Amino acid sequence: METKTAATLFEALTSEARLSIFRLLVKYAPEGLVAGELSRLLDIPKTNLSFHLKTLVHSGLISMEREGRNTRYRANIPLMLDIIGYLTAECCTGNPCQCQAYRAASDVDPRFLPLRTPPSHNHGGTRPMHSTPSPNTTADTPHSEGQRTDEQVRELVRANYAAIATGNHSCCCSGKRSGQNDPFRLAQSVGYDAKTLDRLPEGANMGLSCGNPVAIAALREGQVVLDLGCGGGFDVFQAGEKVREAGHVIGVDMTQEMIGKARKNLEQYEKFTGLHNVEFRLGEIEHLPVADASVDVVLSNCVINLSPDKAQVWREVFRVLKPGGKVSVSDQALLKPLPDNVRGMVAALVGCVAGAILVEETRALMEAAGFSKIILTPRSDYVRNMQNWNDPLYRQIAEALPEGRELSEYITSLSIEAWK
Ligand SMILES: C[S@@+](CC[C@H](N)C(=O)[O-])C[C@H]1O[C@@H](n2cnc3c(N)ncnc32)[C@H](O)[C@@H]1O
Repeated sequence: METKTAATLFEALTSEARLSIFRLLVKYAPEGLVAGELSRLLDIPKTNLSFHLKTLVHSGLISMEREGRNTRYRANIPLMLDIIGYLTAECCTGNPCQCQAYRAASDVDPRFLPLRTPPSHNHGGTRPMHSTPSPNTTADTPHSEGQRTDEQVRELVRANYAAIATGNHSCCCSGKRSGQNDPFRLAQSVGYDAKTLDRLPEGANMGLSCGNPVAIAALREGQVVLDLGCGGGFDVFQAGEKVREAGHVIGVDMTQEMIGKARKNLEQYEKFTGLHNVEFRLGEIEHLPVADASVDVVLSNCVINLSPDKAQVWREVFRVLKPGGKVSVSDQALLKPLPDNVRGMVAALVGCVAGAILVEETRALMEAAGFSKIILTPRSDYVRNMQNWNDPLYRQIAEALPEGRELSEYITSLSIEAWK
C-alpha cells in the first residue's frame, strides 16, 4: 500500500462516529448491516449516519449494496488487513527476535496480530471487496511460560523455524547457532556416523538435533515410524532407509516452510535410494494427523520441549502407537528449575531450553498418558559440546544464571524410551 492511499484511509477514519461504524461492520463481517441496524446499534440518527457512510464508502473502507428498500454495508476486511500490514510490515527489520518478543508482550489476541511474513506489495491501490471468512479460531489456553499464552509460544516457535527453513535466520538474539554453522559436526557429536550423514539429502541436516533417537529406536524392516517435529526430514530419511520399502515413515511438523523443505529433500531421497516409503504431513504434535494404533515407533528429536502442552503431546503419542509400540525420543530436559529471567528469554525458548521441563515431570506426564515401562537417560555431552563450541545462545544463557552457577547444573539432553 502506498503512503498516499494509507493517508486517505486514515483520514476517512478521523471521526469517532466513522471509527465506530467501521468497527461495528468489522464485527458483523461478512454479512454486514443495513443502515437502520447501524443507526439503532450506534444510536446515531439516520440523517447524520448517511454522511459518515458516504465518506467511508468513498474511501473504499466499506461497500454498499442495495437490498430492496434497504442498503447493506460491509467492511472491506482485506483492506483493513492491508492497513495493519502497512503499519507493521517493517517492524523490527533485521531484528526478528526482538519483533517476536514485542508481539508476545502485546495484549492483542495473537489471532489478530499482523502476518508474520511481510505482506506482498504488488497492489498499490485499494483492495477490492470480497467476503472473507472470520479468522480461524484456535483455543488459546492461558499459559505461564514467561507470561505467554500457548498460542503465542507456538507462534514464536513457528516463526523462528520458518526463518531457519528459508535461510532468513539473522536473529538478533543469538545469531546463527553453532549447530547450524556446522550441522555435520553437531550430528556426529550426538552419535550419527559420517557414512549415514553423507547419504542424506542436502539440507536435511540443519544442525537442530540434540540427540540420536534413530540409534535408540533399533528400527526393523517393515515398521511404521512417526517423527514428531521432523524439520527438514533429518531422522525421517534415516528411518526410511532402515524400514525399507515394506515400511513407512511419516514426518509431522507444524511449520509450513519446514514441510516445504522436507518435501523438496524427499525428491532427492527417492532418487538416491530408490525408496518410496516416506511422507510429510503438516500438523501439530498436540493434534497428530495420524490414525489411532497405527504406528510401531515414535521418534522425535529436540521438539517436545517446544510444545506449550506436553501432556497433550504424550496423550497423542500413546493414542497413535500400536499396542507394544515404542517411543524413542531425544529432547532437552531440566535437572532443576531455570531462573525466571532465563525462562522468559525468547531466544532460550525457541532454542530448546526455556520450554524444557524436569526429567521427573516428563516421567509423570508419560505415566499419566498411559505409559508404564519408561527409561529416561540424561546425557550431559550435548550441553558440554555447546559450551565448548561457544554457542551464542548457551553463552547468553550462562551469563544470565546466578553467579557461580553452571549451565550443566540445569539443562541436559535426555533419551526417552517407553513402550505402550
Ligand atoms: C529443533 S527443530 C528439530 C527438527 C528435527 N527434528 C531435526 O532434528 O532436525 C524443531 C522442529 O519442531 C517443529 N515444531 C515445534 N513445535 C511443534 C509442534 N507443537 N508441532 C509440530 N511441530 C513442531 C518446528 O517447526 C521445527 O521444525
